[in-house]
Amino acid sequence: MRVAVIGAGVIGLSTALCIHDRYHSADQLLEIEVYADRFTPHTTSDGAAGLWQPYLYDKGNTQETLWNKETFDYLLQHVNLPEAKEMGLFLISGYNLCTNPVPDPSWKEIVLGFRKLTQKELELFPGYSYGWFNTALMLEGKSYLPWLTSRLELRRIKLLHRRIKSFQELTAQGVDVIVNCTGVWAGELQPDPELRPGRGQIIKVEASWVKHFIITHDFASGTYKTPYIIPGSSTVTLGGIFQLGNWSEENDPQDHQAIWQGCCRLLPSLQKARIVQEWSGFRPARPTVRLEHETIRHGMLQSEVIHNYGHGGFGLTIHWGCAMEAANLFGKILEARKLTTLPQAKL
Ligand code: FAD
Ligand code: BEZ
Repeated sequence: MRVAVIGAGVIGLSTALCIHDRYHSADQLLEIEVYADRFTPHTTSDGAAGLWQPYLYDKGNTQETLWNKETFDYLLQHVNLPEAKEMGLFLISGYNLCTNPVPDPSWKEIVLGFRKLTQKELELFPGYSYGWFNTALMLEGKSYLPWLTSRLELRRIKLLHRRIKSFQELTAQGVDVIVNCTGVWAGELQPDPELRPGRGQIIKVEASWVKHFIITHDFASGTYKTPYIIPGSSTVTLGGIFQLGNWSEENDPQDHQAIWQGCCRLLPSLQKARIVQEWSGFRPARPTVRLEHETIRHGMLQSEVIHNYGHGGFGLTIHWGCAMEAANLFGKILEARKLTTLPQAKL
């Protein structure tokens, strides 16, 4: 059985690993290949801060909340293991700040120690009158993607640098199942009017004294220029830009100013921080994640495609739950194949 995963971001790599671990066995040999035109450290997943928090998300989608939870619980099982460092995984605590009281988020029971901020805590952040404190996880793409890659290489899964132009191209080469993990670029393989880039820009600084994440929200105005500060293992990520429909990968000086001023207002000591990197990338924004099996016919040929894309600003947060669901869908295709091929085998 030949399987082609398109995409080598967190979604493609974790889905390839999950399918292999679940279905590769002595009597079921899977040949899995991962095709991508960008590999680590050049994917969106590498640029992301890596905080486990469903960012700019609370649509009350119970299925997605479950995948978020499955991912958190899976990562929590690894956080005190020796490989956590190599995975780029560690616990982190911090603040979510609002200008008005808002309903509790979908993830309040998933993270550790969720509670409302006290008056004394709010006094640390002038201009904010409400918020939450909790402990979550960091999963840094710049470590996690190489870790996933080494796991795949140990299993002899091939990673091929190639841009795929159509599903048909892979089916014509004898691929049995295609797993579409192309993120924000999925529309190039099959039009999807619901998928749009949610452009982000971030600044990475050296500020080793920052130990807690600080995420601000402005739910009332719905503006998407609300600053955030997320400390990582070696640098601190400053951000807060979300521009729907903007395909520019250039760093924008006005966005730079908005991030810098917003973050320095929030934490004035950042004025002393040294800037080490700036980056822009696209969140694959969609009303819901697309995670489903589709049979696509092209004349005499037929492609079995599992779509797994559209994870917005929460790809690292949700990836493992989605990888397990994609593996379930793959299992159903295997079952259906066995049912249709068994009678022929008997002949
Ligand atoms: P990508 O990482 O973009 O991978 C897509 C892959 O598909 C690439 O390998 C690409 O080359 C390949 N590809 C696409 N089309 C083709 C083709 N036709 N042929 C071959 N290859 C193809 N999420 C969090 O959970 N926590 C965070 O802290 C966080 N911070 C973020 C900060 C910013 C500024 C941004 C922009 C995003 C952030 N996100 C965060 C969101 C997260 O980065 C995305 O949800 C996640 O990276 C999506 O993963 P992916 O694998 O689908 O996409
Ligand atoms: C972001 O998409 O910018 C983001 C995602 C999760 C946590 C913080 C920020």
